[in-house]
Amino acid sequence: MKSGIKTRIALLSLATLAVIATSALVSTGHADARKDVELERIDQKEYAGSKKCATCHKDYFDTWKESSHNKMIRPAIARGRNKTIMADFSKPDPNRPFELKDVKWVIGHRWKQRFIGVVDGQEVVFPGQWSIKDQKWQPYTGKSDWWYPQHPDWKTRSNFKLCAGCHSTGVDAGAQTWTEQNITCESCHGPGKAHAQSPTVANIVNPARLSTERSMEVCLACHQAGKPSGDVFAWPVGYQPGKNLANYWHGFEPQPGKQTAEFWSNGTAHKNRVQGNTFSQSVMHAHGIQCSNCHDAHGSKHLSMTIKSASTNALCLTCHGPGKTSGPNYKSIEEHTHHGASSTGSQCINCHMAKTGENSVGAEARDHTFNFVSPAVSIGTKNPNSCNVCHVDKTAEWALGQTKKWYPNQK
Ligand code: HEC
Ligand code: HEC
Ligand code: HEC
Ligand code: HEC
Ligand code: HEC
Ligand code: HEC
Ligand code: HEC
Ligand code: HEC
Repeated sequence: MKSGIKTRIALLSLATLAVIATSALVSTGHADARKDVELERIDQKEYAGSKKCATCHKDYFDTWKESSHNKMIRPAIARGRNKTIMADFSKPDPNRPFELKDVKWVIGHRWKQRFIGVVDGQEVVFPGQWSIKDQKWQPYTGKSDWWYPQHPDWKTRSNFKLCAGCHSTGVDAGAQTWTEQNITCESCHGPGKAHAQSPTVANIVNPARLSTERSMEVCLACHQAGKPSGDVFAWPVGYQPGKNLANYWHGFEPQPGKQTAEFWSNGTAHKNRVQGNTFSQSVMHAHGIQCSNCHDAHGSKHLSMTIKSASTNALCLTCHGPGKTSGPNYKSIEEHTHHGASSTGSQCINCHMAKTGENSVGAEARDHTFNFVSPAVSIGTKNPNSCNVCHVDKTAEWALGQTKKWYPNQK
């Protein structure tokens, strides 16, 4: 694959440069105010578009078309069959200082919706969001995001700089445009015009043929909290599938004992979109398992595009189960879980992927460390654990006592 063209571009207004200069002073200790940021460009002419891929790969196209990856950013349509707005705009709300008529794009459809409109000729993100679970408006301040100090005023909070790189395809930092909205074929397979004209395996990226790390990075470019080198953009500018993500993106790591925006103090997910950060800590990752062992990137009939159902345990039992070398080492599942066979307390994911993370509300995002989170980590902290996410009326001490009886060997 052709690599991107490195071009020096002065995208920044003088005001923004002043901000960068200040932060450079803080982080490096010496002023380098006149140096503009080096941004790697991509060539949008190399992209073909998903409709083109569909002419030869119809099966992939048909399932992907219905998947969440194709519902991320859509035009605002308030009623009818193609309705995209789930939020209630009927009554004024202090958390929503904007109206439906101001909305150009709506982002999201599963946990929350955020809204984009045009202010002073630039697409910006409005400061309110709709919680789908709670069915109500919430403020959206951005205060917990690392980029907040550089972008405190929502009226200049650019969709292009802060969001578009992860919600659209073929986004070029120079042109400030994308080739297609949403996470499409070329988000994961790289630009495919040459391949579409004369298809071979050599002119398209197939993650299955990359090393495990390079392959997983295709997902991590969007599913790992972190930051690029500068402070202006919030997505890995210039990255394309097959490249080394580390040259474009620095993933955040948990700081043991410290609660951050991304992690609880024991390292589990505190927010959504930290699958990459948490999975990297897991035993499964150390054994070469990756995202695509459990998820079908082209969509599936199961929740969260898993290749088999997780709620029936079918997914985990592909590789695990009594008698299998990867454990758990018990005679039956009930003997391992201590809950009835049909109880939600016997679903692997409820103890090994507890909903520790907040999306629009707490306990919505599943932890990807795959650890059983012991009630011990909750004593004297706010850290959630694998038992009390269900047994909310019981204390962590109660759960720890039970756990010790059931699992005497647990550390
Ligand atoms: C004109 C038909 C055609 C179009 C258009 C087309 N492909 Fe292909 N694609 C093929 C054929 C044929 C192969 C198998 C090539 C081979 O085995 O030599 C293939 C193989 C692939 C592979 C697997 C490569 C591998 O390593 O096994 C991927 C991934 C792929 N295409 C993705 C895409 C994407 C993404 C697009 C749109 C940008 C696209 N294709 C457009 C015909 C097409
Ligand atoms: C979110 C990322 C993602 C998107 C979007 C995506 N793919 Fe894929 N695709 C993958 C991954 C990962 C694999 C390898 C799967 C595996 O390991 O078996 C793959 C494999 C393929 C293959 C090769 C299958 C084989 O036999 O090896 C084809 C063809 C393909 N994709 C076409 C498409 C087309 C066409 C689209 C758009 C309609 C698309 N993909 C969208 C991630 C994606
Ligand atoms: C580094 C990539 C990245 C950036 C930057 C990013 N997002 Fe996202 N966003 C994601 C991913 C990945 C998800 C899927 C949720 C998850 O993985 O937990 C998501 C989820 C969301 C959702 C929830 C979707 C749903 O269906 O409920 C909304 C809303 C959203 N993002 C808005 C934004 C806005 C607004 C910005 C810019 C201020 C932004 N995001 C920046 C990657 C990103
Ligand atoms: C260009 C950014 C991007 C890439 C690359 C990407 N994703 Fe996503 N992914 C998203 C966003 C954004 C969402 C949220 C979509 C929504 O809620 O509408 C999402 C949602 C998901 C979901 C939840 C689906 C659901 O039904 O709610 C899964 C699972 C997922 N991605 C897995 C993957 C895997 C596995 C890969 C790599 C093969 C991958 N993603 C690559 C951005 C990306
Ligand atoms: C594609 C196969 C595969 C699938 C699917 C899979 N696992 Fe694993 N898992 C492994 C392997 C391999 C190991 C490493 C086993 C070893 O230590 O030898 C592992 C390890 C683990 C461990 C850590 C065990 C330890 O020794 O600490 C846990 C917990 C776990 N898996 C839970 C799950 C859960 C929950 C699911 C379903 C959501 C799942 N796994 C799905 C292959 C898989
Ligand atoms: C009620 C909570 C709970 C449920 C449900 C649960 N586990 Fe566990 N699991 C634990 C605890 C606690 C440990 C650590 C103690 C131990 O090693 O037995 C553990 C350890 C493991 C281990 C590593 C230790 C070993 O024995 O190899 C694997 C693998 C595992 N579980 C897989 C699964 C799978 C697969 C399922 C679903 C069939 C599942 N677990 C359901 C609580 C649970
Ligand atoms: C061992 C299996 C396994 C692996 C590996 C795995 N996941 Fe998941 N993932 C799941 C299961 C199971 C769910 C929840 C499904 C459900 O609720 O039914 C899930 C949920 C998700 C969701 C939905 C959001 C949420 O918080 O529930 C996203 C996004 C996601 N995974 C992305 C990824 C990415 C990216 C990777 C690789 C870094 C990855 N997953 C690795 C099994 C896995
Ligand atoms: C997904 C939700 C869920 C999780 C996670 C869960 N449980 Fe349960 N638990 C239940 C349900 C539902 C029951 C009712 C009996 C049944 O279905 O087996 C129950 C019953 C119990 C009981 C017997 C009845 C009682 O309340 O005294 C104990 C003790 C218990 N759980 C302890 C634990 C411990 C300890 C953990 C963590 C290792 C745990 N549970 C994890 C849902 C859960």
